[in-house]
Amino acid sequence: MYGETEPAAAAAERTAFRRAEKQYKLYKPPKPKGRARSKRGSGQGGGGSGEDLSSVVDFHALLAAGDGGLPAGIGRRDLAGFDRPIFCFLDRPGFYFIPGALSIDEQCYWIRESLKTFPQPPNRTNLTALYGPIFDLLTAAKNQKILVEVKKPDGQEISEQNSDGRKIHSNNFKFIEDSEIPKGEVYRSTAATTLFRKLRWSTLGLQFDWSKRNYDVSLAHNKIPDALAALAKMMAIPAMPSGEEFRPEAAIVNYYSPSDMLGGHVDDMEADWTRPIVSISLGCKCIFLLGGKTRDEIPTAMYLRSGDIVLMAGATRECFHGVPRIFTGSDDEEISALVSQLSGEDDSFILNYIQNSRININIRQVY
Ligand code: OGA
Ligand code: MN
Repeated sequence: MYGETEPAAAAAERTAFRRAEKQYKLYKPPKPKGRARSKRGSGQGGGGSGEDLSSVVDFHALLAAGDGGLPAGIGRRDLAGFDRPIFCFLDRPGFYFIPGALSIDEQCYWIRESLKTFPQPPNRTNLTALYGPIFDLLTAAKNQKILVEVKKPDGQEISEQNSDGRKIHSNNFKFIEDSEIPKGEVYRSTAATTLFRKLRWSTLGLQFDWSKRNYDVSLAHNKIPDALAALAKMMAIPAMPSGEEFRPEAAIVNYYSPSDMLGGHVDDMEADWTRPIVSISLGCKCIFLLGGKTRDEIPTAMYLRSGDIVLMAGATRECFHGVPRIFTGSDDEEISALVSQLSGEDDSFILNYIQNSRININIRQVY
């Protein structure tokens, strides 16, 4: 992913932020009872690495505990007309946490969109630079297709359309059945399921250019889908000056597989930092670190779960943050709510994916 500017090994433990990243990245959950091999005492923070997660802020637990005394430094924001609980950190103005902002149905909808629609051209993904625009990767992966590079003798680009006029591809890569791999003509071939696992990000709306760390307005793009824009506008309200409306112009969708992390970074490519970044979590839970303006400040760790929304505006826009760790499979039993909703036959691929992945959609106003 992005955000790592220093050589990782050299800088690994130099700052408080790096030390926290490393601590959570290396955290191993205690082994389930009966299979424990450790001779050390059991209990929180087992797994031999000595760390525990007791200092990770759990807003769902605070919500369940009711109004009976919030921990020091954490507040609630009540907003007329906003019917969801909002938490904040007293020393981080502009940061808001809306636990369980999305219903299970909404989470499933946005998971499907993130996997099916969002990675489609003209939106770019981390795969675009390698393979050109890829259409319908999810369908190809579900159907066990293979992406092959086929060269025409004259070196011309191949472009084909579906019977309904939809472009299938416009480069020298196309999806075929395993049995159709043409002998001798194929230069590269990759299973669509492998490509799907390698999906790390896609960009919606104005396209972000990672190499220049800037928005490239010359690139073709669709506007942010209406439903996502409406959701972001509504959820941004707690962080907006009253009477003003958030304008969603770009979004980055991050796809995390079990060993992925997002290194500490500051999102500084948008012109107006008074506007929030609206950040939606889907799938497996993670630990999110919110630090200060330098990596030397000790960051606060908190859980982000499927359906949670975080807003970062104002002074918090200048703060380092990142995701050192996600919890997959048996380490995240909370995923079971999604499992029952995604049990249709057509959803088995998506279900399998999301049980071991986290998706983050973060929506931005660029100008
Ligand atoms: C980002 C980001 C946080 C997350 O993409 O800039 O900070 O929760 N994402 O994945
Ligand atoms: Mn960020």
